[in-house]
Amino acid sequence: MREIINFNTNWQFFKEWNDAIKTEKLNAESVTLPHTVSEIPLHYFDESDTWLITGYQNIFNYDKAKFQNKRILINFEGAMAAAEVFVNNKSFLEHKGGYLPFVHDITDALKEGENIIAVKLDSLERDDIPPFGNEIDYLCYGGIYREVQIIIVDDISIENIMITGLGNQNITGKIRIRNSKKTNSKETVSINLYNREYHICEIKKDIQLQNNELFTDIEIDEHIDSDRIELWTINNPRLYKLEVSLSNEDSTSVRIGFRDVKFTEDGFYLNGEKIKLRGLNRHQSFPYVGYAMPERIQKKDADILKFDMGLNIVRSSHYPASRHFLDRCDEIGLMVFEEIPGWQHIGDKEWQKVSIENVKDMIERDFHHASIIIWGVRINESQDNHNFYKETNEMAHKLDKTRQTGGVRYIVGSELLEDVYTVNDFNYDGKADPIRAQKCITRLDKNVPYMITEYNGHMFPTKMQDCEERTIEHTKRHYEIINAVAIDKYLAGSTGWCAFDYHTHYNFGSGDRICYHGVYDMFRNPKLAASAYSSQMCKDYKIVLEPITIYARGERAIGGVSPLMISTNCDYIEIYHENDLIVKEYPAAGKYQGLKHAPVIVNMAVNIPGVSDMDWADIKIVGYIDSKPVIEKSYLKNPTFKELEVKADDYEINSISEGSSWDSTRITVKAVDALGNRLPYINEAVKIKVEGEGELIGNDNPVLEGGYYSFWVKSNSKNGEIKITVSNKRVETKTISIKVN
Ligand code: GAL
Repeated sequence: MREIINFNTNWQFFKEWNDAIKTEKLNAESVTLPHTVSEIPLHYFDESDTWLITGYQNIFNYDKAKFQNKRILINFEGAMAAAEVFVNNKSFLEHKGGYLPFVHDITDALKEGENIIAVKLDSLERDDIPPFGNEIDYLCYGGIYREVQIIIVDDISIENIMITGLGNQNITGKIRIRNSKKTNSKETVSINLYNREYHICEIKKDIQLQNNELFTDIEIDEHIDSDRIELWTINNPRLYKLEVSLSNEDSTSVRIGFRDVKFTEDGFYLNGEKIKLRGLNRHQSFPYVGYAMPERIQKKDADILKFDMGLNIVRSSHYPASRHFLDRCDEIGLMVFEEIPGWQHIGDKEWQKVSIENVKDMIERDFHHASIIIWGVRINESQDNHNFYKETNEMAHKLDKTRQTGGVRYIVGSELLEDVYTVNDFNYDGKADPIRAQKCITRLDKNVPYMITEYNGHMFPTKMQDCEERTIEHTKRHYEIINAVAIDKYLAGSTGWCAFDYHTHYNFGSGDRICYHGVYDMFRNPKLAASAYSSQMCKDYKIVLEPITIYARGERAIGGVSPLMISTNCDYIEIYHENDLIVKEYPAAGKYQGLKHAPVIVNMAVNIPGVSDMDWADIKIVGYIDSKPVIEKSYLKNPTFKELEVKADDYEINSISEGSSWDSTRITVKAVDALGNRLPYINEAVKIKVEGEGELIGNDNPVLEGGYYSFWVKSNSKNGEIKITVSNKRVETKTISIKVN
């Protein structure tokens, strides 16, 4: 039987490494994982503040009698950027790379009683580690920012389950066995498949472990004799538990889905059904703590992409995502394009070796995720490099026969070594063709499986507090491209740049070290352009009506709000002034022929008898479905600051229990008028007070940006309540409370 000890609490953190950390039990700052080496300000920080060589120390109590004949493994899920682990001063080989896990068998370094586990963490942007070696447009922070476990197993144990469902009756892949003593022995592996509580089947395999081999991979290709398996789809993402056990009772499981994925010359197919991929890229960075956010927050991002934006795919740019994020994608039916770490630069042979290792580690870690439909095995936007990319592709194909490869490029006529030509198409500048013709980019004489992996982004950075005209153009650019992508019937789909604003280096972004490329800001609040996506959702799921305006008389050049663009999935809209109907308008389906839900475009000046731009009035916009009013949004002609809305994503979170990571939720503050409309130019400070069993992440006296501010609170080890007070002297103080269990 295996035992898993979560090892996330009681780490001593040393801002500067010194050798005593390896040998002496020391007290420094006590931290719980996920952890960042330095919390940084939101704007205008110095990225070199994250470039540190730090130390972490923890104590593992080893009870030899209890763990007799057991192996003790330590698993780090992600430590940026290079980690050398020491156990009682014995060094384990430095692991290079911050995005993938590594395991050490520490048994032989342990002694009875207290053992010092130390990590020397190098968070410098070292030339020998992808993505580093040249400039990159994102910040990688530093820290043991994902979880750590100690795993106690028998000499022979299950190392990894790399299995996926195929069709609705087959499982395929590999199971890796760790044979710690490297002995020659026979083993029986049992695979059990469960549908929630029901046992579906058991498969047994006899295997032979070889002398001197630490790992043995068992090929699995089995037909499941059951007609009860439902396919994994984006609307019904059915998952099954696949448990693997050995005769010594070592047992572990993964969740798998049954599905077929295929990119062809004429598009993308899930279970034989053609689906247009519509998605965005996601960076995993957050204000202040960078990458160091726990499970709930990782999962929330997936929920935002799927349920708030209505996307069916996300590209985990430009590195493998957190396990929790991917688990959630599996659960909710959000497909994933996952890729290796890198950005434009290809390093020397040693660097390339690490990168090829990244391909292997990524696929081995994530093989079982139903949501992953393609592996990105090229350094994002790098130049061609025949030998290197031949190898990354060979590695991917050797490890995974079920998924195709892509490799994200921007140069035209780049050599196609992958299965899918995946390309960043930044053609659209507001005037040019929204997307380029496939053959102009590939320079091939025939169509190939083809996907656009980025558009927009730096072509039109837009902040939450930007002016209305810019916001409209931002929204329009997203509409133009998803429309063009939808019309091109050979194109598999696209992932735009990008979901959330993100931290970067000084020579990218807006000087304050933020790339304002998201349709959401870094706090995960939606800019109006996000409605280009959300309005494409099925109206049975969510009715959307989002006018792209702040409704002010003199905000746009010359004044007025005409033409008014409204993102909606309603059949038509009506605009009322007092009780008078002044406009009835249908979606601009002729202009946006690819979209199920084109925006409505209203020329207010022409269409409003009696109410012109010079005659400013309160209005109400009503959306209709099947001739019935289903949603409305009103605007005041003279808004004033009436209220701070304060809402939490979750009103109950977990305390830190022995070994667990911390938990967190986001609180959003919105300055609104009497109708609840956001006041984007308020630029006032708010005071945030967090009391009780929790702690504020970041600034307690921030300024609203675009009428919003969000912050996260983190739990401590006590149960109770976190009381949060938000105040600004112009309006009523708000208090909310979060239960901590
Ligand atoms: C692309 C790059 C992305 C991001 C984007 C900004 O060229 O792949 O990482 O920098 O530009 O639009």
